[in-house]
Amino acid sequence: MKFPTKGLPKEEVLAKIKKKKEHDFDWKSGKIFCSVYDGGEEAQEVVKEAYSYYLTENPVDPTLFPSLRDMETEVVAMSAEILRGDEAVGSLTTGGTESILLAIKTAKNRAKVLKPHLKEFEVILPYTVHSAFFKACDYFDVKPVITKLTGDYKADANAIKEAITDNTILITASAPSYVFGVVDPIEEIGKIAEEHDLPFHVDACIGGIVLSFARLGGEKVPDFDFSIPGVTSISMDWHKYGYAAKGCSVLLHKNKEYRRFQFFVCTEWSGYTLVNSTILSTKSGGPIAGCWAAIHHFGMEGYIQLSKDQLETTRRFIEGINAIEDLEVMGKPESSLLSFTSDKLSIYDLMDEMVERGWHLQFQLSNEYSKSNLHLTVARAHKDLVDDLLKDLSEAVAKVKKKGFLKKAGTKATVKTVSALAKNMSPENFEKLGKLLGFSNGKVPDKLALVNEIMDVLPEETVKNTLLEYFNDFYTYSEER
Ligand SMILES: Cc1ncc(COP(=O)(O)O)c(C=O)c1O
Repeated sequence: MKFPTKGLPKEEVLAKIKKKKEHDFDWKSGKIFCSVYDGGEEAQEVVKEAYSYYLTENPVDPTLFPSLRDMETEVVAMSAEILRGDEAVGSLTTGGTESILLAIKTAKNRAKVLKPHLKEFEVILPYTVHSAFFKACDYFDVKPVITKLTGDYKADANAIKEAITDNTILITASAPSYVFGVVDPIEEIGKIAEEHDLPFHVDACIGGIVLSFARLGGEKVPDFDFSIPGVTSISMDWHKYGYAAKGCSVLLHKNKEYRRFQFFVCTEWSGYTLVNSTILSTKSGGPIAGCWAAIHHFGMEGYIQLSKDQLETTRRFIEGINAIEDLEVMGKPESSLLSFTSDKLSIYDLMDEMVERGWHLQFQLSNEYSKSNLHLTVARAHKDLVDDLLKDLSEAVAKVKKKGFLKKAGTKATVKTVSALAKNMSPENFEKLGKLLGFSNGKVPDKLALVNEIMDVLPEETVKNTLLEYFNDFYTYSEER
């Protein structure tokens, strides 16, 4: 793509973007079960307008835009209220990932001060914590100590206790885990954290909103927040079930004493004195204003109703999926997320069949605790789509059954060839691999069953290597795409 010589009028520029957008998933159909949270037309408008007021304002210097500082601290205070943190303080971040990155950075900086003898830093991660924790360990050079699950896909508190060493700087758990939608035994883990005088981060990126408002609406849901002794920080995403614009999560600490290790102050360089509460410096004020607007648009009553609806919709999906022969919901989801699998059918083929029917579910690879499965993030837009999805799912199951069971003769040979090629990712082998799997020239094949099936059986290192090479190519401009 060549740099445009002359500028274009507004209409032409926007028309070009609209044209590009024609190939995007139509999320307004509601048939997508990840990535998108649609608060409805009016909420979209409120958030969009509030966001646009602050597109250019930059919260990096709170003295210039005190309104942004006010809105941020107000959102944090309201978040602390619903998470029952009497002394809790926090910051708005750009998403769950940044909240989690900061939780680990905070724990490491705290440990450096309180335990200056430490040479290595370990964080305890139950197997189902979000990938953002692994990213944080990678970025901040902290060792992830992965602990096992119990039979119901929850963190095993005893395993956490046994994993604690002198180098442990933080314990983590999820409410609920993204993978299975179940809430870890927060109270039990909180006791362990207290006994060992360790900070304990609860990832409530999902449950912070869905479970809190369900509780406030009188539903019986598991407790996970600051009311539980031992919990020292919580992440919660307004840009998911809060229906704010993307770029808005909060990281809350039990009190100011914990948060001080989150901040970064730079006086060493030759420019202006810099104090950052979060990872980014310059950013748009839009997400802060959008979040504040969403909260005031829905209010407590609006979010309670949304939570009730979302939990009820999830229950209907669970019942309906379990009623389809050969499908089974995994564990007992306690929030608005669920995963289902099958002992007999190819989940890979089922995914393709659902794509053919216009649905986008999320595929999760098998691991030592679970078979490959399909994941649903159930949100506001799905309330009226339960019967449609179940009908299409039943049809998809019938079609996959007709095709016969998986483990096609060809697959084993393909896996062998892929493994051999992936061992040496030369440009020639990479091209061959792309052709074999249908990914040539950065294109994504319509049917992913073969790719998913192969990924599921390849060694982890090979999968990592292949994905890395593929995305390195995918994000490179090519005229042919
Ligand atoms: C439980 C949980 N934690 C963390 C994250 C990461 O959040 P984000 O995608 O906003 O960075 C997610 C995302 O789905 C999540 O479900």
